[in-house]
Amino acid sequence: MAARGVGMLACLPLCAQRSQVLRPTHRLLSCSGTVAADVKREEQSSRNVETGSEDRTPKKKFSEVQKERREQAQRTVLIHCPNKISEKKFLKYLSQHGRINSHFFYESFGLYAVVEFSQKESVTSLQNVTRTPSMETEAAIPFKSRFFNLKMKNPSSQTSEQSCIQSSNHSPPSNKKLSELLCYAESMDDQLNTLLKEFQLTEEDIKLRYLTCSLIEDLAAAYFQDCTVRPFGSSVNSFGKLGCDLDMFLDLDEIGKLNTNKTSGNFLMEFQVKNVPSERIATQKILSVIGECLDHFGPGCVGVQKILNARCPLVRFSHQASGFQCDLTTNNRIALKSSELLYIYGTLDSRVRALVFSIRCWARAHSLTSSIPGSWITNFSLTMMVIFFLQRRSPPILPTLDYLKTLADAEDKCIIEGHNCTFIRDLNRIKPSGNTETLESLLKEFFEYFGNFAFNKNSINIRQGREQNKPESSPLHIQNPFETSLNISKNVNQSQLQKFVDLARESAWILSQEDKDRPSPSSNQPWGLATLLQPSVLSSVSLAKKKRKKPASERIKNLLESIKSSSPENDTHTNGKRTVSTQA
Ligand code: GTP
Ligand code: MG
Repeated sequence: MAARGVGMLACLPLCAQRSQVLRPTHRLLSCSGTVAADVKREEQSSRNVETGSEDRTPKKKFSEVQKERREQAQRTVLIHCPNKISEKKFLKYLSQHGRINSHFFYESFGLYAVVEFSQKESVTSLQNVTRTPSMETEAAIPFKSRFFNLKMKNPSSQTSEQSCIQSSNHSPPSNKKLSELLCYAESMDDQLNTLLKEFQLTEEDIKLRYLTCSLIEDLAAAYFQDCTVRPFGSSVNSFGKLGCDLDMFLDLDEIGKLNTNKTSGNFLMEFQVKNVPSERIATQKILSVIGECLDHFGPGCVGVQKILNARCPLVRFSHQASGFQCDLTTNNRIALKSSELLYIYGTLDSRVRALVFSIRCWARAHSLTSSIPGSWITNFSLTMMVIFFLQRRSPPILPTLDYLKTLADAEDKCIIEGHNCTFIRDLNRIKPSGNTETLESLLKEFFEYFGNFAFNKNSINIRQGREQNKPESSPLHIQNPFETSLNISKNVNQSQLQKFVDLARESAWILSQEDKDRPSPSSNQPWGLATLLQPSVLSSVSLAKKKRKKPASERIKNLLESIKSSSPENDTHTNGKRTVSTQA
């Protein structure tokens, strides 16, 4: 957990604390036209957010995005390059294997290139001319992957012709830079949108996430032909912050189901398989083997830990070349559905992501969240709280899950392990909200709302979009939207919840004061969101409040003193006893 007092502001290299290896900072060095166009589109849509004019272009379904990205990743290779390289020659060399759609370079303890070919066959062609390195003292495991190492045949003859690769830094802003950006913003809405723009995953980061999953899939496919490794969680649910972990789901369900409908005749053919006593044991066995495989054969996979006794068994490892901290699970289909639901909520209204990012950064700045598991609130729970809050606005900004279920058609129907996970998946069929509240007002109201929420008796429930009586006594109860008998924040203890409530109240108070004394933009003084992200400011507010409110012992002492000093005539005697009002 980060020490209190360390400013949020780039609460980014957090995962470094969780990782066994140092997390590299990505420096994007160059990108081709198609990527640049995507980035431009992203910027354009971010500008739409700022001006409040909603983007009316049709929005892609989650499954469409996943399919497109996955297919793109399968045509992509990752290449560790020599530090001094001619980009032109590099591209020319690779073009022998086919047309290149896009490419970019980044730095992460060395120079890496991500190259997307137009055709999958180009990858095979490149693999066919690639050799396994010969080691002098060690032995190489001859695993043919899509992660290559490029060497120069004759380095000295090539250095003179190098072209400089244009460097553009794509790591999140430093504390100082973010603070400046926020101070110079024109309004609080502008501040929240700036924070979103600076922290959201870039196009290149997203591509690298899908590529990493695809590389792991190649490895798992050595055991389980036709398996799929899908990213889930914040990498794909639209709430991912630069530096967030990469949650992966090893999907074995499609295996053997692909062509079963096509068979005809009187017979049904099944694979001979091994049986184990339960699904959980099957999951543990599969992950155990894949964990070994990653550890022994996975190029760039280090620090592999098998955490098989957790409620949701997983294999955790660092993918060195991408710098991602990865959590691989299987038999976790509901989490994938949760990611799709959050994607819908994050894409429906442009204010949602801006608010969630700010709340997540605020929580991180004040050590309410941590990269280490424990009794604190998770980002997932915080996101649910924001969604719930937005469902409670008048008119609502987000629809309830039950409403999304009523809009679903037959194709949307989805039952997982007996849980009804049905909701409409086509975003374009959900009517936009008529609510026009500003982000500034929503942020204030969020703190007011949760600063005064009856956590002791009520549960947060995005399925119905209204408070419900808590079914159990955990301090914080947020109903799992699909496994409705579960509480996603069961881990949160009373003191962490109280800390959240106190900070929410203090933040609401600060924002109410801000209205009166907002500094002029030229003064370079933190204001609005920048103030809220400074842990020192909130702790001084709480100190000031504590000072104002004297402790009970002090109040009693003062009272007794005032009684002592008061005249005897004013004392009330009843049967020889003096009655003293102890009300302060
Ligand atoms: P980051 O903090 O940015 O990684 O957010 P995240 O949403 O990716 O959270 P995390 O990596 O902890 O978990 C990944 C996904 O697992 C989440 O998005 C959820 O879909 C799911 N998940 C996490 N925690 C819980 C939980 O307590 N209960 C349930 N049912 N699902 C969870
Ligand atoms: Mg995650």
